[in-house]
Amino acid sequence: MHGILTLYEQKQPFYLYTGRGPSSEAMHLGHLIPFIFTKWLQETFDVPLVIQLTDDEKFIWNDITVEEANRYAHENAKDIIALGFDINKTFIFSDIEYISSCPEFYMNICKVQKLVTYSQVKGIFGFDVSDSIGKISFPAIQAAPSFSSSFPRLFKSKKDIPCLIPCAIDQDPYFRMTRDVAQKLGGVKPAVIHSTFVPALQGVQTKMSASDPNASIFLTDTDEEIRIKIKRYADSEGGINMTDEHKKRGSYLTDISYQYLTYLMTDDDKFTQIERDYACGVLAREQLQEILIKLLQKIIGKHRQNRALVTKEMVKQYMTPRNLECSIVT
Ligand code: TYM
Repeated sequence: MHGILTLYEQKQPFYLYTGRGPSSEAMHLGHLIPFIFTKWLQETFDVPLVIQLTDDEKFIWNDITVEEANRYAHENAKDIIALGFDINKTFIFSDIEYISSCPEFYMNICKVQKLVTYSQVKGIFGFDVSDSIGKISFPAIQAAPSFSSSFPRLFKSKKDIPCLIPCAIDQDPYFRMTRDVAQKLGGVKPAVIHSTFVPALQGVQTKMSASDPNASIFLTDTDEEIRIKIKRYADSEGGINMTDEHKKRGSYLTDISYQYLTYLMTDDDKFTQIERDYACGVLAREQLQEILIKLLQKIIGKHRQNRALVTKEMVKQYMTPRNLECSIVT
């Protein structure tokens, strides 16, 4: 990261790379966080961005057909586009489609596959002999977009542009592996920056996951579904309420409604006031939940409206390899 910032100060180019595994039509609130952060990075540094949709990964891991996985990639692309990424600086691709159209991407995949042993991926990802060979070789496909040579049409064939990867911590193993092999295959080590991990509704020790509908707020949830989920499932650790003991121990910190507000409320002064009031019991848990419900309904409602404006034609444009604009990539 330090290297990336130094380059930026020297007016040298870099690009951003992030991704999504299209396991279903609906993305959840947690998935939004790295994308919102990526958008901020793109706007702040004025750099190109590539977004990998790993439909191959989701086909290999999940019980879906390859056609379904590819369709989910296009559906998820709509959610990503709805966040407002600049079309002149953003390329979104499905692995299944891009591998067959870009030999340079596949060449990098082969290079990574040659450099990483089974014993290494077993150690990093916990594979065992009963895992399919698709799973074992997949990490190379997530590694390859870290090298600008995988995108000859985007970067005017510049092969050594450094890459910054914003993602949450669960994706880190892929990029530790990538950094290990980067120099051996003639590439630049990618830099990684982690966004925070949104917990599930059931408490701070849990992970918001797409496979449990009651654990997550989805971007497709209606206002009523949001209300029901927060009221019914948003929990503090062990389901404790705001007792005196609770206040003394500062246990409000583990309350999931409070936690979600830390991610979603952009007005820092308002948030500090809410935090103060909740910590000393002036604000009850139900009132805090009500603040969260209204904020979520607003954020997801706006997303729903923006997504409805994304057409198939727009998805096609974002997913077409083309020269990306950037003031410092010449
Ligand atoms: P996926 O679809 O599981 O997740 C997409 C992005 O969301 C992040 N994420 C979360 N962030 C905050 N809170 C959560 N609860 C939460 N759950 C998931 C992930 O870290 C990711 O940034 N294999 C990847 C797709 C991929 C990718 C990449 C991701 C391909 N190349 C490069 C990041 C960077 C996947 O299945 O992501």
